[in-house]
Amino acid sequence: MAERIVLAYSGGLDTSAATKWLQEDRGYEVICLLIDLGNVEDMEGAERRANEAGAIEYAVVDAREDFMRYFAFPALAANAVYEGEYPLATALGRPLIAKLLVDKAREVGATAVAHGCTGKGNDQVRFDVALATLAPDLTIVGTAREHQWTREEALDYCRGHGISVEGGERSPYSIDENMWGRAIEAGELEDPWVTPPEDAYQWTRPIGQTPDEAAEVELGFERGMPVSLDGEPISSVDLVDRLNELAGMHGVGRLDMVENRLVGIKSREVYEAPAAVALLAAHRKLETLTLTKDQMRMKARVAQEYADLVYNGQWFSAHHQDLASYVQSTQRHVTGEVRLRLWRGHADAVGTRSDRSLYNYALATYGSEDDFDQQAALGFIKLWGLPLEVQARQQLLREPADPLRLAAPGEE
Ligand code: ARG
Repeated sequence: MAERIVLAYSGGLDTSAATKWLQEDRGYEVICLLIDLGNVEDMEGAERRANEAGAIEYAVVDAREDFMRYFAFPALAANAVYEGEYPLATALGRPLIAKLLVDKAREVGATAVAHGCTGKGNDQVRFDVALATLAPDLTIVGTAREHQWTREEALDYCRGHGISVEGGERSPYSIDENMWGRAIEAGELEDPWVTPPEDAYQWTRPIGQTPDEAAEVELGFERGMPVSLDGEPISSVDLVDRLNELAGMHGVGRLDMVENRLVGIKSREVYEAPAAVALLAAHRKLETLTLTKDQMRMKARVAQEYADLVYNGQWFSAHHQDLASYVQSTQRHVTGEVRLRLWRGHADAVGTRSDRSLYNYALATYGSEDDFDQQAALGFIKLWGLPLEVQARQQLLREPADPLRLAAPGEE
């Protein structure tokens, strides 16, 4: 009896060709698993092609809610963005897909799993590491890595095997998308000097076509997780869908970076992530009210470490568990509301409140209700500056130099 393999199937040209190839070339019985993270456009076509390509089973899993709850929102709580910008949509999706592939493999008694990632990207690393971690006994086949077909070759292969791929006016870019964001690469973008062509974007309007009127939304958070929109409780999936639409309409969430891949190359990446960018702005603002200075400083360091480990495919690791525990602990008072203004490509948090707020009006005000003891500042300043006074007397002033030049080395 032939061995079984579960393929992470997208419904597109490449994984349709891969379905056939895994049977013909490798002798597997193929189970096509379509995992919906909010990215599936042509559900019917996907099923048809899986059948035409000879899959013995075709299955769909709607994983959108789990994706938000266990992946995107915890990353939001961490304020995790890679290299200062990328909210990690693709990177966060991979470990969940890997987990669901393993579940399916167990269910159907498969000995192998497959994905269609190329051998140049981060995604193969994320898949392979996650799979090897969760199910070291399963064989992993990277179909694109093994046959390295061009687009034309994949098309020919499908046509030759009766797989209908006619709707071939596909975009000139390589695209990966899920609810947390859309990644666009290759094509003209490979020249970092080239302005991203407007046709690269699908979720966001160019600034020139955004509404003249700003939109304002009120986002409610509980322990760092978004739970309401304009005062109404809302599910994670609905919230992110709504925000992608609304913030995208206002041109929010376009990112254009030259990014350092794990596999050692720099690559030009364009992203659209309206909801993620909006939610990050709101969450960060609420933290400014509810976290102490020390927590914010430490958390910013953890955010970077967290983003790197997600990007680098180390989701299923003790290091991640440790950082996630820290992040979760920091969120216990991050409860409150943020008013977010969406306009001309910006998502600005313009108001915040929380009944756990550390902002103290009586201490902060310059008005008549001022409670701050200004005389106490004198003693504080005396001690704070004391070591510098000693140092100046003992060292700096011994060799008088122009104080303006101290910070400009190299000038004589
Ligand atoms: N550079 C991003 C990442 O590594 C996005 C990858 C998108 N994948 C794609 N096939 N277009 O997370």
